Amino acid sequence: TVFADSITPFIIAPTPPQEAQRETSSIGRVTLKLDLVPLGKATYLHIGEVVDGVDMRAEVGLLSRNVVVMGEMEGRCYEYSSKLCSFFDFDTFGGHIKIALNFKATHIEGLELKYMGQQTMGHYPIHFHMAGDVDEKGGYNPPTYVKDVSIHHTFSRCVTVHGSNGLLVKDVVGYDALGHCFFTEDGPEERNTFDHCLGLLVKPSTLLPSDRDSRMCKLITEAFLLSFLFSDDRCLSQETGFWFVLHHVPTGPSAGMYSPGYSEHMPMGKFSNNRAHSNYRAGMIIDNGVKTTPASAKDKRPILTLISGRYSPHKDADPLKPREPAIIEHFIAYKNQDHGAWLRGGDVWLDNCQFADNGIGLTLASGGTFPHDDGSKQEIKNSLFVGESGNLGTETIDNEIWGPGGLDHRGRTLPIGPDFPIRGIQFYDGPINVQNCTFRKFAALDGRHTSALAFRLNNAWQSCPNNNVTDIHFEDVPITSRVFFGEPGPWFNGLDMDGDKTSVFHDVDGSVSEYPGSYLIKEDNWLIKHPDCIDMPDWRGSICSGHFAQIYIQAYKPANLKMKIIKNDYHDHPLYLEGALSKSTHYQQYQPVITLRKGYTIHWDKTAPEELAIWLINFNKNDWIQVGFCYPKGTTFSILSDIHNRLLKKTYKTGTFYRTSQMEKLEHRYPSKGYYYWDEDTGLLFLKLKAQNEKEKFAFCSVKGCERIRIKAVIPKTAGVSDCEAMAYPKYIETPIVENYCQCKSVILAHIVPTDIERLCTRCLIF
Ligand SMILES: *[C@@H]1O[C@H](CO)[C@@H](O)[C@H](O)[C@H]1NC(C)=O
Ligand SMILES: *[C@@H]1O[C@H](CO)[C@@H](O)[C@H](O)[C@H]1NC(C)=O
Repeated sequence: TVFADSITPFIIAPTPPQEAQRETSSIGRVTLKLDLVPLGKATYLHIGEVVDGVDMRAEVGLLSRNVVVMGEMEGRCYEYSSKLCSFFDFDTFGGHIKIALNFKATHIEGLELKYMGQQTMGHYPIHFHMAGDVDEKGGYNPPTYVKDVSIHHTFSRCVTVHGSNGLLVKDVVGYDALGHCFFTEDGPEERNTFDHCLGLLVKPSTLLPSDRDSRMCKLITEAFLLSFLFSDDRCLSQETGFWFVLHHVPTGPSAGMYSPGYSEHMPMGKFSNNRAHSNYRAGMIIDNGVKTTPASAKDKRPILTLISGRYSPHKDADPLKPREPAIIEHFIAYKNQDHGAWLRGGDVWLDNCQFADNGIGLTLASGGTFPHDDGSKQEIKNSLFVGESGNLGTETIDNEIWGPGGLDHRGRTLPIGPDFPIRGIQFYDGPINVQNCTFRKFAALDGRHTSALAFRLNNAWQSCPNNNVTDIHFEDVPITSRVFFGEPGPWFNGLDMDGDKTSVFHDVDGSVSEYPGSYLIKEDNWLIKHPDCIDMPDWRGSICSGHFAQIYIQAYKPANLKMKIIKNDYHDHPLYLEGALSKSTHYQQYQPVITLRKGYTIHWDKTAPEELAIWLINFNKNDWIQVGFCYPKGTTFSILSDIHNRLLKKTYKTGTFYRTSQMEKLEHRYPSKGYYYWDEDTGLLFLKLKAQNEKEKFAFCSVKGCERIRIKAVIPKTAGVSDCEAMAYPKYIETPIVENYCQCKSVILAHIVPTDIERLCTRCLIF
């Protein structure tokens, strides 16, 4: 327990009667007198206030009840399952209550459960086991519930809802538990309500890969290694507040209950008024699936190992029906060491949330290189982010993360380490929309970067120019700490992965940079930079204007090249990309953000790939760029355009490209004909890449699907390195063209009085 706030709860005496407690809390004031004898002084600071706008009042949970159900324990660890006593030095073989299908009636209320649960599958303090619908739908009237129950010092979870639906779990306190405390198991569980429950001091358990800490992972995996010749296990430790893990198909005895992909598309239901704090890893995670097949020779990872998973909620869990965003409302996350929340997938929207004192407040991560559910977006509105609040925590002797911080450099608990770059919102992939959010008390220190807005570090993936921020407010945030693009050094490593080099976001109303309509970009990315951009050295960024989009270039045969892309008007500032995908894939993918209506050349560190597919990403209809691809002399080409619909997994050919002997004739015309120009002397194959179809607002691809151009090249066997830069320039240098319009005018017109426009426009970037 490194984070010191209120992990250790109070034991309360005297015990107020339930009803009295209700009454007082309903009028919003409760006075608690803590009788700390025989406990002595409280070890840690317990906050009882709203600090810097974030409600950090400590939770108070009543553990004692008049009716107690408890296990009878041995005084030492008892090894009823392999290796248990290498993890626990106490007996973990407690009692359990199991409710199975066709039970008569179950209403558990006002009970104290102690020493319950076991470190074997299926034995938990309260366990609804494959009980089906337990509410009116299943014929239970009144519906089944678990209410006003305290579950503490348990040896396996608190309440397990397994293959059961419609259960109400209300006012349940789980304290000092092994493994996920409130737990739904196989994936098909629906309509269950967890209302006003409290789970705290939840510790690692051996049962599932997602329950284990890294030591358990290692030791248990080694046991597997011996019996199955196991390798390459991936197992993340617990320590997460709320965690939505997606089961692509239901597991365990629920296998077959729904068709593949159902849970990834299932609407979330209601998630409101929850809070998570003092978690080692994250307050909330929506991410990951579990492996749903047992270990085999082909894939040796055991069943339920965490794998990747992408959430994209749609009506009736049907990806062809309208989107049904997951709304996360009034969520509070503070003093979570790594993340307040890490939310992956499409259409996850947050409203009225609060984040404070987390390493990283919030990461909104779309589907990855492509949003899995094209047309979806993530957003956060009306929310508050506090970098370092007035809740300083408690200094303890063995506390390695105590150090100076905040605006006054006082001693405080720090997330992860003294030089960890604290961030409010971290951009990763996209598209995302950040609107009406306040950032408070983010300030860099000597030797520690800190910023309200920043980027995922060591990022191989795309950065989307449609990541928008609007109506951002800064309080006690020096301008130098508003944004940080990173620099090589601790935590940032070389800052040389493709996503690190191409980071960008759109400052729609100028509330971050003072320049409405501008884009904030990494300072040395000349694919989107020009000399009229305004450098912000403290941010390692630039404020730029322009029209941007992305291209994804897939390279086959070989799939291991480094790509160099050069914009013709700033040819002495090339961008080098190594590709987003792991080395084992059969193609590599490069994802630069580009300036539209410009010319580029592309080069390789070995012989050019035999096949390229170029995807036009975030291009609106008629947007274009011109690209010269470097190939060896003697190469011949076959080039076509097509449209790929990712949802239906269908591809249609839309045209063929023919050779022209005049550069001026380059055209990419729909539906049937395009021209390419092969300048064999410089080694450049020129194409004009132009989007033919309309695009919806948040989509990456057109309404008809993703427009692509595919090049197949027959390359002479003896060809050398395909780097044509020396031949290409100065021949293809372009003069920077100045676009003469006031970038901000339209934005300002929308909500500012006309007399201000002239004045504000002088602060706009005018080209
Ligand atoms: C902005 O967010 C705050 C909450 O942080 C809210 O009180 C206010 O009404 C919001 N403003 C608008 C214009 O929505
Ligand atoms: C960002 O704003 C642009 C217009 O400036 C809009 O086209 C785009 O859809 C917006 N993206 C998001 C995620 O809100």
